[in-house]
Amino acid sequence: MAFDVRTPISPVIVALDFPEAADALALAGRLDPALCRVKVGKELFTRAGPAVVEALVGRGFQVFLDLKYHDIPNTVAGACRAAADLGVWMVNVHALGGRRMMAAAREAVEGASRGRPLLVAVTVLTSMADEELAEVGLAGSAAENVLRLAGLARDSGVDGVVCSPREAALIRDRVGEAFLRVTPGVRPAGTAQGDQRRTLTPAQALEQGADFLVVGRPVTAAEDPLAALLALVEETRGHRDG
Ligand code: C5P
Repeated sequence: MAFDVRTPISPVIVALDFPEAADALALAGRLDPALCRVKVGKELFTRAGPAVVEALVGRGFQVFLDLKYHDIPNTVAGACRAAADLGVWMVNVHALGGRRMMAAAREAVEGASRGRPLLVAVTVLTSMADEELAEVGLAGSAAENVLRLAGLARDSGVDGVVCSPREAALIRDRVGEAFLRVTPGVRPAGTAQGDQRRTLTPAQALEQGADFLVVGRPVTAAEDPLAALLALVEETRGHRDG
């Protein structure tokens, strides 16, 4: 599934990685909620708080609140409920929080009065090398841990995972087509990689089984963000129609 069937908008989620609400809202003002969703992460949320999320929702954007909750089940459930009350479209947790934590998160969003947000999990941070996993006591390769934790997330009622586009096909095949794959590390052909390594183009990522593409700087740092977004969306349409 390359597109969310519930809405006609593209699979692109623009990461609003700005330190200040004013900059994030100015950039959002140059985008179009009919063309993309937006992601609010830890830096922006910590500085600007729920007000920036409410402002984006108020402007018609579907918001992925990327705070990667990881705490005891009761606390994570409360945080997920609070996110749902803000009207966010997607929220996430760390799969390493375990089955009861993820199940509590699912139960919390289930009762949301403004429509249930999608709940996705982070398995293994892509910044962690195999040696670092061993250091924190996780045996096996990153890929093995990703698959095990993705299966646990699915069994705990989570809707999908944030993963590398290079892992998306394996997760789709092993964990199930209906389990969503949200992938950062996407770069349109011919654009700067920034600090990302081993990127894929939007078409390649969709080909590999991604459902949603998180793209930051190729849009937010572009001279004309809307034109950059349109070009990206065009690439994904090519994939869908082809
Ligand atoms: O600017 P860029 O496209 O690299 O932004 C990617 C976004 O996806 C950032 O918000 C980053 O934090 C997030 N992300 C990532 N890699 C992960 C998980 C999240 O790049 N493994």
